[in-house]
Amino acid sequence: MAEQFDVVDIIRTKRDGGELSTEQINWVIDAYTRGVVGDEQMAALNMAIFIRDMNRREIVDWTQAMIASGDTMDFSTLSKPTTDKHSTGGVGDKVTLPLGPLVSSYGVAVPQLSGRGLGHTGGTLDKLESIPGWQADVPTDRLMEILEDSGAVVAAAGAGLAPADKKIYALRDITATVDCIPLIASSIMSKKIAEGTSALVLDVKVGSGAFMKDLDQARALARTMVDLGNDAGVRTRALLTDMNTPLGRKIGNALEVEESLEVLAGGGPADLVEITCELAREMLELAGVHDPDVEEALKDGRAMDSWRKMIRAQGGDPDAPLPVAAHQEVVTADRDGVLSELDALALGVGSWRLGAGRARKEDPVQATAGIEIHAEIGQEVKKGEKLLTLHTDTPDRFERALESIRPGIVIGDAPAAARTIILDRIV
Ligand code: URA
Repeated sequence: MAEQFDVVDIIRTKRDGGELSTEQINWVIDAYTRGVVGDEQMAALNMAIFIRDMNRREIVDWTQAMIASGDTMDFSTLSKPTTDKHSTGGVGDKVTLPLGPLVSSYGVAVPQLSGRGLGHTGGTLDKLESIPGWQADVPTDRLMEILEDSGAVVAAAGAGLAPADKKIYALRDITATVDCIPLIASSIMSKKIAEGTSALVLDVKVGSGAFMKDLDQARALARTMVDLGNDAGVRTRALLTDMNTPLGRKIGNALEVEESLEVLAGGGPADLVEITCELAREMLELAGVHDPDVEEALKDGRAMDSWRKMIRAQGGDPDAPLPVAAHQEVVTADRDGVLSELDALALGVGSWRLGAGRARKEDPVQATAGIEIHAEIGQEVKKGEKLLTLHTDTPDRFERALESIRPGIVIGDAPAAARTIILDRIV
């Protein structure tokens, strides 16, 4: 059968700054999924979109076409409301781990379908897989049972959700077209809308360790995603949060589980607790729970009880000790002064080089690798004082990791400006 359009015309239209019709977008996404449009043609179209942008109608159509390329899930048979969170990705961002159990302790279902880490930001599944026995793959009928019973699930997103996005994202990754607002927004929202959650809170990271380096870009991305979600019937809000400095004091898979357990036990670092509680309040409000005392639910053990149920439901042993790296190396201050910068990207790349992340999607990750941070921005430090501990099972990685980490530590003379964690809220 003859094809409806010629892909070269579509690429040329966008290359010259024109607008793509709904029919052209539906066809090109479908034809690419079927293999009729080639990788080189989709790569050229992505680059044309990167340079020329898409208007709101084109972004909605692109998102809907990617949803239509695969399956959608339906949680409407559950007896509880559903709400989910998505982060655009940052260094030390383990918020999903305490947040799901915290929100589900209020009787709300939290279906978090996640991916594995690629590059310097860690993947939630990689983190949870450091818990002995825990399984990321959950069949749909079991997923529904867990949501009805314990309420929170973190599972691998099945291959059937938005398969066009999977193919396009892999291509963008190797053609310098990832950091493009219409393509990021449609990629994230196609998966979240296909997942079938009724409410969604987005954590859009801003700063050196994030896709979006400045606040205006991050606001534009958040606005685009919030509109896409609401237009598709998913009640959606976004918080913009700081990612110039890693979140919390631990980076790496088992290390981030360890720190999440501190939060679930009512402790943990202030920045991580603040973001977790703020996102929980937003998610609960969208699910119809007003003014919840989420700090109390962390302190009185309710959230920890939900965590234990969530881990057990997926075969994990919440009481098993977490793995510890075979080798550690301490990084100390090279002068007296005030710690004024701990750069998120430098530490994220460092942790990745220690073995916590992967360069290609088929690479294994070390459960134990990562970085512990011992000092805070604004703190006075003395020469020789311990700032970081690096962890790995393969000590030949220390040198390359340090090449990234050292320039990211800045010790100055003047007091550092106070750090604001939550930068804006888009509704
Ligand atoms: N995460 C996604 O799922 N897609 C993007 O384009 C960027 C981040």
